[in-house]
Amino acid sequence: MSPFLLTRTLPEDATDAALRADVLHGLTHTPKTLPPKWFYDAHGSELFDRITELPEYYPTRAEREVLIARAPEIAATTGARTLVELGSGSSEKTRHLLDALPGLHTYVPVDVSESALTQAGQALIAEHPELGVHALIADFTGGLALPGTPGPRLVAFLGGTIGNLLPAERATFLASVRALLSPGDTLLLGTDLVKDESVLVAAYDDAAGVTAEFNKNVLHVVNRELGADFDPDAFAHVALWDDEHEWIEMRLRSLTEQTVKIPALDLAVEFADGEELRTEISAKFREEGVRRELGAAGLDLAHWWTDQEGRFALSLSVAR
Ligand code: SAH
Ligand code: TRP
Repeated sequence: MSPFLLTRTLPEDATDAALRADVLHGLTHTPKTLPPKWFYDAHGSELFDRITELPEYYPTRAEREVLIARAPEIAATTGARTLVELGSGSSEKTRHLLDALPGLHTYVPVDVSESALTQAGQALIAEHPELGVHALIADFTGGLALPGTPGPRLVAFLGGTIGNLLPAERATFLASVRALLSPGDTLLLGTDLVKDESVLVAAYDDAAGVTAEFNKNVLHVVNRELGADFDPDAFAHVALWDDEHEWIEMRLRSLTEQTVKIPALDLAVEFADGEELRTEISAKFREEGVRRELGAAGLDLAHWWTDQEGRFALSLSVAR
């Protein structure tokens, strides 16, 4: 049997302290914000998996199409012996890469969601008994410490998750990814592309209301972890296209004037009727912007592949 290791690089109390700091900061500023990594407790990870199957949510299907078409080329170009995947979630699409990488020694899925890592890890070792799987519970925006496994190293960051970072955060993040690589190592990056507004908005505001439930899950997390009394029914899910920044913005709009108590922070937060709490952005990209941002971080774009309809791109870049 292959080894399955699960390493927690986030101490449990550090997660708690980080959540407190984020909630205190975000809810006492104008406009109010909450950072997106707190969506993904076990229920949030499950809701996200349901999002990936919605008819309106095309990014997962489009990215899978590109991965299937290009996996042999990715394997030949990278020769990867270690695959590190940031924000790996269910590792569902990654299977296409794992199947195509013949010389792979170790797969390192990295996620804040312990439940997602455990479930994905168990399924993977059953399918790939020869592969080492070393899962890391870690924040990919913090300083990652990777296991000392053989190169070449391929870092994959799929799902368009990079779009959930603000531009300045993306620059810092890409530089930190570059620092994990040696010259010649590679980054496989999934980016959702700018397209018709109605298609984009529908992907983040589905008819069945799964995305609304996902967005409100962050309120459940704050209730459970910090003893808050958010009433998720007193907020409406809002998804807006910001044409200037070319990103989708997710918000929760207070349906009434209300006060929310957060005992663990000794805080009472007032919401005006109609006031919006910002929860997440999902930036959409163009080839030139991706090339520029990668280049600024010391990564040279080598391949740019899209699905047939040109909705989503996978890029492969090489560390200088
Ligand atoms: N890669 C999968 C999942 C994308 S959803 C796919 O393409 O379908 C985003 C994933 O990133 C979730 O599993 C979430 O738990 C994880 N995540 C979000 N913020 C994170 C952070 N700061 N550090 C580590 N993982 C994070
Ligand atoms: N990385 C995903 C994306 O930007 C995350 C996501 C999908 C998401 N739907 C969402 C985040 C709804 C918050 C709310 O496409």
